Amino acid sequence: GKVAVLMGGDSAEREVSLRSGHAVTKALREAGVDAHPFDPAHNPLAELKEQGFQRAFNVLHGRGGEDGTIQGALHYLGIPYTGSGVLACALAMDKVKTKQIWQAAGLPVATSRVIRKGQAYDAKHLLEELGGKVMVKPAQEGSSIGMSSAADAAGLNKAIALAHEFDAEALVESWLAGPEYTVAILGDQALPAIRLQTTHEFYDYDAKYQANDTQYHCPAGLSDLEEMALRQLAEEAFACLSGKGWGRIDVMCDKFGNFRLLEANMVPGMTEKSLVPMAAKAAGMSFAELVVEILRRCES
Ligand code: DAL
Ligand code: MG
Repeated sequence: GKVAVLMGGDSAEREVSLRSGHAVTKALREAGVDAHPFDPAHNPLAELKEQGFQRAFNVLHGRGGEDGTIQGALHYLGIPYTGSGVLACALAMDKVKTKQIWQAAGLPVATSRVIRKGQAYDAKHLLEELGGKVMVKPAQEGSSIGMSSAADAAGLNKAIALAHEFDAEALVESWLAGPEYTVAILGDQALPAIRLQTTHEFYDYDAKYQANDTQYHCPAGLSDLEEMALRQLAEEAFACLSGKGWGRIDVMCDKFGNFRLLEANMVPGMTEKSLVPMAAKAAGMSFAELVVEILRRCES
């Protein structure tokens, strides 16, 4: 039957989603699937029914598309969709809630504090508490939007104000030295880990989608034992949030070399530069095989 590739939308990650969507549509068609692009910014979702779509391949990133909203709407319409359900998506979209759950499950995360908009805080004290240098993130965003680092009080105030432009909650995390890894999940199994190497201070929006000096290493250069530990950690982190179908877990090492979970992406990027297709390739799977596999899992 007809498959709608949900893309675009009106989140801050719209452009990335359009790139993901076109790549997925093309690959599905190559695999013989009757796939059609569907941009929820221009078409009401109820049209999926009227236009006779039987399934939805969701590559909407960020708010509205990756946070449980569209998942609830599709469930209501009775249209099976790829990836995780309402709960997992809503949790994973929120880095603060995600960390609370991982922490409660005994999984390793960086030390952090949450500053709400309007909440008073002592910048100097906060920095001291978190080791002198921090990364500040809006609780709900993607692709590193609204993120910046700080190592002094003025910088911290600025970083928190920036994060608050995107969300009422700013997550202030103690700085992780890296390296950074990401682990794609297909079904409930981790694919080979990827190590990210950027010339930027961190893996920001530009390093993700524009820069051509960002390096990706897959295999990641870990020992067999470390690779196994990292994959297992990612699988547990995904399961802990009730993740389903596919996803991607981001992890960073602290200065002692310990893995710390950063966040979960329930609708990870699927552009030509994206990481899940790269990990799939390392596992011997083409982009087309990957999308067919993700689609196949949407009814189970
Ligand atoms: N949020 C972007 C799309 C990613 O995680 O790949
Ligand atoms: Mg993300």
